[in-house]
Amino acid sequence: MREISVKVFRFDPSCDTTPHLQNYLVSVKEGARVLHVLHAIHDEHDPSLSYRYCCGSGQCGSCAVKLNGQPVLACMEEARDEMIIEPLDLPIKKDLIVDMDPYLDRISSLVPGAEFRMPAPDEVEAIKPLRSCIECLACVSACPALKVIDFAGPAAMREDMRLSLDPRDTCDRVTEAVSEGLFTCTSCQSCWKVCPKNIEIPGKAIEKLRALANRKGLTLPRHEEVEKLVRETGRSVDRTGTTFLEQVPEILEPYGEVKATVGFFVGCMYNMRLPQTALDAMEVLRRNGIRVIIPKEQVCCGSPLIRTGQVEFLDTLKSRNINAYVFRNIDTVMTMCAGCGSTLKNDYQTPFKVMDINEVLLRYGIEPPARLPVKATYHDPCHLLRGQGIRTQPRELISKVVDLVEMPAICCGSGGGVRSGMPQEAAALGENRRNEIDKTGADLVISSCPFCEFHIKEHTDKPVKNVATVLLEGYREKDRRTAQKETC
Ligand code: SF4
Ligand code: SF4
Ligand code: FES
Repeated sequence: MREISVKVFRFDPSCDTTPHLQNYLVSVKEGARVLHVLHAIHDEHDPSLSYRYCCGSGQCGSCAVKLNGQPVLACMEEARDEMIIEPLDLPIKKDLIVDMDPYLDRISSLVPGAEFRMPAPDEVEAIKPLRSCIECLACVSACPALKVIDFAGPAAMREDMRLSLDPRDTCDRVTEAVSEGLFTCTSCQSCWKVCPKNIEIPGKAIEKLRALANRKGLTLPRHEEVEKLVRETGRSVDRTGTTFLEQVPEILEPYGEVKATVGFFVGCMYNMRLPQTALDAMEVLRRNGIRVIIPKEQVCCGSPLIRTGQVEFLDTLKSRNINAYVFRNIDTVMTMCAGCGSTLKNDYQTPFKVMDINEVLLRYGIEPPARLPVKATYHDPCHLLRGQGIRTQPRELISKVVDLVEMPAICCGSGGGVRSGMPQEAAALGENRRNEIDKTGADLVISSCPFCEFHIKEHTDKPVKNVATVLLEGYREKDRRTAQKETC
């Protein structure tokens, strides 16, 4: 047995005016689950604690709670010392019990016709990745979109897609999904990452429904404009000045010994809108022994088209990009846009390795920069954190230059075509991001994605910089101090 300290959310609307966190010291067996801790509190400390459970084995979905801010199944998650147990982000009935009905009611049910046939084996295979939902609503709790806009939510989108694949169903699930907020999803992947059944809702439901919506002519006009721009120019944003690709030679040699060679995939935003950030990154790479090869014929990775369901032109983009690096015998392609990196890693089949710049810099090691007297916070781009599993690397790099203060990893609202197609929602999510930034008391916001950097700049009065720019500032300060010493 071991004793652990736990904080549990308590709120009884019949007598409490505000919720509070109650501390408990609980004795549990090694390997105990969160649900065992709740049983122990209920049986040994306070029988009034209310929580839900049924199967105790991850099958019924009734026990979902938030553990240290993350939705989990209480019966499956191991209990930890100092853990905080709270209800899902849904209307609270009492303590850990939430009102699931409004969200469950929005999940469609199969409507059979007079005549129907059973799904064929290939249809069953297509439905499989979407059918294991236990309606725990962990995904709904984690979804940033439905906190700011009317949206049936990820669990409902999953079922709409499942039913659209089922020949027994007679309803138009695609049109239904569009009217329920299909285009409000920011592609943040939070729903997938918290789902206890590992259902890939963004890729297997939302993007597929958006592609079906495209065939029905239901794509948002703003998204159609982006697709047209990609077809006509190879880029998803307009030029506003000299591009990055116009400012650099095809090969950038490092200043000292060559430690590695990478091909660079710049992406539309750094190429067209934020070229200086990409130039800063090149300077950091050259200083750290990385030779960079930059094929000029590279084009948009296709992410804006995949996320909005406009995939007709995608194969053309993919082959143009892959050929650009294969032609030069490049075995590692480096990205610095989180969205491009996630797309190249997850939506392409490349004959080369794809690495994010944060991975490259840590893989080969960097010269220590000078420290700056700055308190900074880091915004995790969804497509870096959840799309590529990159969390520690940018933190390790920026901690060499500034003092880092953490904030929750929430979506800023710039992804999934939401910034272009649903600007009010994007602005509301940007405001949520601003509130969390303000709580940290940081002087600077750092990120590692051009879409996030561009969007967050509009919602905070703090400077927003890329990891590479912060490293370069550390190097410039180091050079300045060295020059000062030499003058003295
Ligand atoms: S990807 Fe993000 S915004 Fe989209 S449904 Fe999932 S949690 Fe919601
Ligand atoms: S999709 Fe996953 S997280 Fe969402 S309700 Fe179903 S099982 Fe739970
Ligand atoms: S109690 Fe059934 S899933 Fe946890």
